[in-house]
Amino acid sequence: MLIKNIKSLLQVRPNDTDWVAGAEMAEVPAIDNAFLHIKDGVIKAFGTMNDCPQPEAGEEEIDASDRLVMPVFVDSHTHLVFAQWREEEFVDKIKGASYAEIAAKGGGILNSAKKLQQLSEDELFARTLPRAHEVLAYGTGCIEIKSGYGLTVEDELKMLRVARRIGRETPLTVKTTFLGAHAIPAGYANRQDYIDLVVNEMIPRVAEEGLADYIDVFCEKGFFTPAETEQIVEAGKAYGMIPKIHANQLHISGGVEVGVKTGARSVDHLESIGPEQITALQGSRTMPTALPGAAFFLNSAYPPARQMLAAGLPLALATDYNPGSAPAGKMAFMMSLACIKMKMTPAEALNAATVNGAYAMDVLPTHGTIATGKAGSVIITRPIPSLAFIPYAFAGDVIDKVIIDGQLVHEAAQG
Ligand code: NIG
Ligand code: FE
Repeated sequence: MLIKNIKSLLQVRPNDTDWVAGAEMAEVPAIDNAFLHIKDGVIKAFGTMNDCPQPEAGEEEIDASDRLVMPVFVDSHTHLVFAQWREEEFVDKIKGASYAEIAAKGGGILNSAKKLQQLSEDELFARTLPRAHEVLAYGTGCIEIKSGYGLTVEDELKMLRVARRIGRETPLTVKTTFLGAHAIPAGYANRQDYIDLVVNEMIPRVAEEGLADYIDVFCEKGFFTPAETEQIVEAGKAYGMIPKIHANQLHISGGVEVGVKTGARSVDHLESIGPEQITALQGSRTMPTALPGAAFFLNSAYPPARQMLAAGLPLALATDYNPGSAPAGKMAFMMSLACIKMKMTPAEALNAATVNGAYAMDVLPTHGTIATGKAGSVIITRPIPSLAFIPYAFAGDVIDKVIIDGQLVHEAAQG
C-alpha cells in the first residue's frame, strides 16, 4: 500500500525511541507533504513526496491530500470484556449517589460480576466483539483488556480467554491483565480468604494457561490496601506477570508508591495525587496513565498533568472503557479531555495516546510511532486543518480510514 500526498505524517521517530517525557511531550515530529509505503504489513519507507517511489505492481495507492496520517491509538487500560451496561447506576448517580455508595450497596463491580458469571464463554465473546469493532473504528489498534468482573476462578479464566480470543479473531493487538483483585466478592466474611484464592489458585491457573501479561489490583479505600496490593502483585510477578496498578482514583491510596516499589509498568487513574506521589514517580520506569473518561463520567478531579509534566514525568492516556465508570472507548475524546480539562496541548495529548500508551503496554517496538519495520497500522483523517483539530472537534468524527498491518479495517461512510 502506498499512501501519497499526505498533508502531514505525524509521530515520526527513531526506531529505538523510548517514552516521551516532560518538555519533550510538547513536540510531535512530522513530515509535511509525505508518503508512507507499507509492505507485508509493515512500514517499509516514508519521506517527502520528492522521494516517493513508484507503486509496485498490484499495489494499492491512496491519495491523502489535505489529510493527516498518524499511528493508530494505543489504549493501554480497558475493561472491554463485560456482560452488560450499567446505565441504571448512571441514573442513580444523577440523583446524587456516589460511586463508592453504589459499590457499597452491591452495585458497581459486584453487579457486573453477577451478570458476567451467568454467561457462557461464547456468549461473553459475542457481547464483547462489537465493542472491539467499535474501538477499531475509533482508530485504536492496540488495546489492553483486564479481567476483574469474574471474581471466581472459572469466571476470571473465562474473561481472560475471551480477551485473548479478541486478540486472535480481530485485527486488534491485545495484551491481557489479570485483575482478580478488583473487589472482594459478596459472601466473604474474611477478606484474606479471597486474597488467598487470588494468590494461591487464580494466579497459578491464569499462568498455566498463559492468559495474562500483567497483574493488576484496585488499590483503593474499600477495595485493596497497599500491603494487600503488594502481596498480590508479587505473587503475579513470581509467575511472570508485570504489575499495572489502579492507583489513586478516589483517594491518596498508596497505589503510586506500591507501583513504583514493585516496578509496575504503569500506575493508572491518578485523580488523587500530590507532590509526594509525583516525587515517587521521578526516576522510575513506571508510566503514569490518566483515564480522563472516568474523571469526566464520575465528575471528579483530573490528574494534575501540568505539574506532572513540569516535574519531567511522561504521561499516557487511556479510556478505561468499562460499564461502571467510563462507558466509552474513544481515544480522540480522551485527547479532548486532556486538552480541555488537563490543559495539555494537542501535541502532548497525541504523544500520550500513542508512543506513551505503547510503552505502557509493551508494544513500543512495533507500535506508537512511524518508523521503518514497525506495524503498518495507521489512521488517515478526513481533510482537517491541523492536529489541534482532533481534540478541538470534541464530538466530531475526524477519522476517515483505519489501516491495521497494511489492511483497511475501517472506512468512514463519506471520507
Ligand atoms: O477503572 N476503578 C476500578 N475499576 C474500574 C471501574 C469498574 C467498575 O465500576 O465497573 C475503573 O474505573
Ligand atoms: Fe480501570
